[in-house]
Amino acid sequence: MKAREIKPGIYWVGAVDWDRRLFDALIPLPDGTSYNSYLLKGGDKVALIDAVDPPMEGVLLNRLSQLGVESIDYVIASHAEQDHSGSLPRILEIYPNAKLVTTPKCKGMLIDLLMIPEEKFITVNDKETISLGDKTLEFIHAPWVHWPETMLTYLQEDKVLFPCDLFGSHLAATDLYITDEGKVYEAARRYYAEIMMPFRINIQKHLEKIKDYEIDIIAPSHGPIYNKPALILKAYRSWVFDPPRNIVVLPYISMHGSTQKMVEHLVEALAERGVTVKQFNLSVTDIGKLAMALVDAATMVIGTPTVLVGPHPNVAYAAFLANALKPKLQFVSIIGSYGWGSRAVEQLGGMIPNLKVEVLGPVMSKGFPREADFKALDSLAETIAQKHKEHNFA
Ligand code: FEO
Repeated sequence: MKAREIKPGIYWVGAVDWDRRLFDALIPLPDGTSYNSYLLKGGDKVALIDAVDPPMEGVLLNRLSQLGVESIDYVIASHAEQDHSGSLPRILEIYPNAKLVTTPKCKGMLIDLLMIPEEKFITVNDKETISLGDKTLEFIHAPWVHWPETMLTYLQEDKVLFPCDLFGSHLAATDLYITDEGKVYEAARRYYAEIMMPFRINIQKHLEKIKDYEIDIIAPSHGPIYNKPALILKAYRSWVFDPPRNIVVLPYISMHGSTQKMVEHLVEALAERGVTVKQFNLSVTDIGKLAMALVDAATMVIGTPTVLVGPHPNVAYAAFLANALKPKLQFVSIIGSYGWGSRAVEQLGGMIPNLKVEVLGPVMSKGFPREADFKALDSLAETIAQKHKEHNFA
C-alpha cells in the first residue's frame, strides 16, 4: 500500500473504508468513507497530519513504511474524535520521538479519551506556526467544526489547507482528487447537513477567517481532495450564508391512510402555488436525505397520525433530529389525524425549541379527512406560499 504524492513532499497516507455503512452508530454512509492522513516531508522535519480510525491503523502504518518514514517529528491532531485520533497512541509508540501538536482544548480531550501522556504534547495558539524547514505549517483555530477543540492547518508555501472534518465528504473512492463533481457535491452536502449544519454560525466566522488565504488545494480528512477548492468553498458559503429557499420539507408517517391522504392533498396544493415540496415517508426514508433537504428549506410541515395520544415515534424522532440539526427553517406546521383524541401537536411543538420559527396553524383530522380538512389544507398551502413570497424566498 503506497503513499500517494499530492505535491512534492506532501503525501496522502490515508485509508479508504468501502464497507462502512453507519457512523457514530447513527449516520447512514451509503457510499462508505475514507480517513485521510497526510505526511509532510520538509527539509528539516517530518510531520503527519491526523491518524485514521483504529481498525485501519495497519493501512496507515503500511503506507508510512512503504514511504520509508523512519522518524516523525510532529503529529498534528486537528480533532480529538477517534476516527482521526484513535490510532495516535500506536503512532506515538512506533515513532517515539514525535510530539503531538494540537490546540490546548484538544490536548485535554486526547488525554481524557486516549490516555496520551501529557509530556507528548505541544500546544499551539491560533495562527501560530511550526517550520519543517522549507514548509511552514500555520494552525488556524476553528472551534465547533463539529467539536469544540478543532483546528485547521495551512501549509503556507504550497497553499494547501488541511481542514480535517470541515469540507469533508463520506465517500469511498480510489481517485485522490474529485472526478465527478456532482457526486462529491451530493456527498459533501449530506456531510454538511448531518454533521456541520448545527454549527452554521460558527462556520460563517471560520469562512470569513480563511477567505483571504490563497488556497490551491483543500485536503480534508474524509473523501476526495479538492484541487479546485472553489467548488466546496462556494457550496459552503451558500449553505451557511444564503437565505432559505421556496421549499417545504414534509416528513410524515401514515398508519391507515388518513395522514397519507392529507399529505397528498397538501403537496398538490403547494405545488399548484409554485412551492417546491420534498416529501419523506419516514417508514422508508434515509434520514440523511431528510437532513440534506433541510439545508435550504424555508418551511417544514410534519405529518403524523396519533399513537397513544402523541405523535408516531418515527415522527417524533424526525422532529428531534430537525431540532438538533438547527436548519434555516422559518416556518413549521403540523398536519395529521387522530381517532378519538390527540396531543400530538402540543407534544411535537415541545420537541423543537431550537427552531426559531413561526408556527403556522395545524390541521388535524378526526378520522379520515373530509371537505373541511381539505379546505384547511388549501388554506395552509396558501399561507405558506404567501409567507415565502413576502420573504422573497426563491
Ligand atoms: Fe471525522 Fe469528527 O470526525
